[in-house]
Amino acid sequence: MINVGIIGVGTVGESVAKILHDNRDIISARAGKEIVVKKGVVRDLKKARSVDIPLTDNVDEVLEDPSIDIVVELMGGVEAPYAVVKKALKSGKAVVTANKALLAYHRYELQDIAKDIPFEFEASVAGGIPIIKALKDGLSANHIESIKGIINGTANYILTKMMQDGVDFEPILEEAQELGYAEADPTFDIGGFDAAHKLLILASIAYGIDAKPEDILIEGIEKITQEDIVFAKEFGYTIKLLGIAKKVGDFVELRVHPALVSKEKMISKVDGVMNGISVVGDKVGETMYYGPGAGGDATASAVISDIIAIARNGKSSPMLGFKRPLESGLKLLERESVVSRYYLRLLVADRPGVLAKVSQAMGEENISIETMLQKPRSDESASLLLATHLCEERAMQAALRRLFDLESVKEHPVMIRIED
Ligand code: HSE
Repeated sequence: MINVGIIGVGTVGESVAKILHDNRDIISARAGKEIVVKKGVVRDLKKARSVDIPLTDNVDEVLEDPSIDIVVELMGGVEAPYAVVKKALKSGKAVVTANKALLAYHRYELQDIAKDIPFEFEASVAGGIPIIKALKDGLSANHIESIKGIINGTANYILTKMMQDGVDFEPILEEAQELGYAEADPTFDIGGFDAAHKLLILASIAYGIDAKPEDILIEGIEKITQEDIVFAKEFGYTIKLLGIAKKVGDFVELRVHPALVSKEKMISKVDGVMNGISVVGDKVGETMYYGPGAGGDATASAVISDIIAIARNGKSSPMLGFKRPLESGLKLLERESVVSRYYLRLLVADRPGVLAKVSQAMGEENISIETMLQKPRSDESASLLLATHLCEERAMQAALRRLFDLESVKEHPVMIRIED
């Protein structure tokens, strides 16, 4: 028998306890042992729960209970769970966590502490999709060329609704919160930080790269409007919040931002709260993973897969899917050197000579315009929507500064990268 302590019995914790109970026949058959929730730790003992497990509000009743084999950390946050996980590992308990923020900041320290003690985190990226196991095991024969994913369900839900129903941002965010997809602080979803945490976990496995969220380019979906959606539709794109990790020579490019994605691409069809991740390996080619990226049962399904794996093997595979010496030469590519195509939205005065000034500003940074569309507005201004050919981020940033300095440009330009 394996005893589990769950720290944090919220949406996911309740689902873990419920699935361990409902599917106990198949779970014990696959694990080779019965798995029992010995205790759950909650902040508020008075709050009603939908599961019947012994509860405490004292975390040490789990951490110091010698009969508990696996600690499931579902607290959220970074520093408090870091202390809890450290203590659990130091006392020899296996740990399963769904906490992407914790891993984005402390994954290497925790892995060092864990050594041979199982420390698993399948649920930390893309909820129910077994993407961590795919990278660690299924694709382990490959050098990973790129990972491109929709890894935040809330942002994808909002963008999908904006594209399909022509509605604005705020009411959809409220809907996503009510459905239980959003983080406690939804700016993590909207601002791209949650996706960045997940991307860093994937990149640590694929490339052994040690970057922090502060080191990488992160942009959210806050500035996207129906005008951008009209442009996207007109030119055969959809708008998605993407997490991208790409090997470029001896460098790894890591970025999270909204992107115009061609409607022909499989990833553009990943809608609603679903997540989708394309991973390109040098030998296998492109592989694609699709499934629910948020929600109690989907996330609990991944948590329990880790519990079963630990019950079976007792040992975890190292967190870095590749041994450091093999790939340790890889460095983080500075964000200014990323090459992309770009879409810009400019609010300009609708009068002679403005287009010429805009294209001159772009030309001075050596940026070539590929497509342009002008939408007149009622107030003697116009929205200028344009797409560029490939250029470096540093040239684009310089062009944006030039454009904003133009007297005829009325607001800060909005830029969205294009991923073909
Ligand atoms: N808030 C996250 C999302 C939950 O929307 O994807 C899963 O990590």
